[in-house]
Amino acid sequence: MSLPLPAIPLPNSRVDSSIFTAEEIQEEAMRLQRAIKQHQRWPLSACLNIAPLTLEINRLKEEKDVFLIAHTYQTPDIIYGVADEVADSYTLSKAARDAPQQTILFSSVRFMAETAKIVSPHKTVIHPSPEAGCSLSDGITAQDVIDLREQYPGVPVACYINTTAAVKAECDVSVTSSNYLRICERLPGDRLIFVPDRFMGAHLQKALEGKKEVIVFDGECEVHAVFTGEKVRNWRKQVGSELAVLAHPECGADVLEEADFVGSSEKLIEEALRLGSEGRPDVMLITECGTAERVLAESEEELNLFGACVMCRHMKATHLEDILQALKDPTEDQIIEIAPEIIDRAQRNLEEMFRLAE
Ligand code: 13P
Ligand code: SF4
Repeated sequence: MSLPLPAIPLPNSRVDSSIFTAEEIQEEAMRLQRAIKQHQRWPLSACLNIAPLTLEINRLKEEKDVFLIAHTYQTPDIIYGVADEVADSYTLSKAARDAPQQTILFSSVRFMAETAKIVSPHKTVIHPSPEAGCSLSDGITAQDVIDLREQYPGVPVACYINTTAAVKAECDVSVTSSNYLRICERLPGDRLIFVPDRFMGAHLQKALEGKKEVIVFDGECEVHAVFTGEKVRNWRKQVGSELAVLAHPECGADVLEEADFVGSSEKLIEEALRLGSEGRPDVMLITECGTAERVLAESEEELNLFGACVMCRHMKATHLEDILQALKDPTEDQIIEIAPEIIDRAQRNLEEMFRLAE
């Protein structure tokens, strides 16, 4: 049994396919189909249609020496067709910082592209979908953090990386879903302010019980807020105790209580693949659909994915056509610009994250 993945509108190639030979297109389509590994959702006809696009993007990337980064929640044609690096937000921020290329194209939501610019201000960072936000980063302003600091003087402020550059500039350190427990535990004092994710904040408070008090903001991820503990319990009843429940820490407390494993999008994939390799194929992934798409593509074993994933409309706002256009001739709003004064302060915040996470 496999997870019912929602349909993704398949891209329409607008590239002049006559620049590539029929053999090149056929070979590229077969490469895409093998990599995506979902022959029903991505039949050869769909792969043939997008092959000229991926060929042209890859050609331009090389010509212009661009490093193309994609978050796991991007669609499989982007991930397996054109991305040089795919991972969770922590790994991608390091990849952006360390890339030798002077131009980065970040296929993802705005705050991740801003983060790439903050950690490498001398590089050009292109974000193909300027409108692609995030309910967490859009739900808090720099002024909210300034107000919290006034209310709790001297208390360190940790922000989830899902925040704008202006918010990061007001906070002491950023954290991601792969390191929030480790970093917050290492902050000085017996109190900390955590913004903006109230679910991750509650999980943190539970983990730090008796050690630190966590003052939490009230933002949430519109995708992970949809899952409920009741649905997980129902699936457990149907499948049995062999079902491994893997959840992202942006989920609510009732979901996380049911989970056997909590981790970032990348850690969830690693865990699902590990379980499969140990002969434990029954897995429930409680997160955005991109994680399941990668597990299906990257698992060598047949896994049974139970439950239903939820799609992030912001993450799915970028299409191959947008990437091609932005690579060819980015518009002003597709090039990330951040005021130097904000970059300086936000950079200190992210350097602190790298220091405390390692
Ligand atoms: P990850 O760092 O786990 O990829 O999370 C980013 C995100 O936005 C999840 O919703
Ligand atoms: Fe933001 Fe949630 Fe979408 Fe991640 S899944 S980008 S947290 S809205």
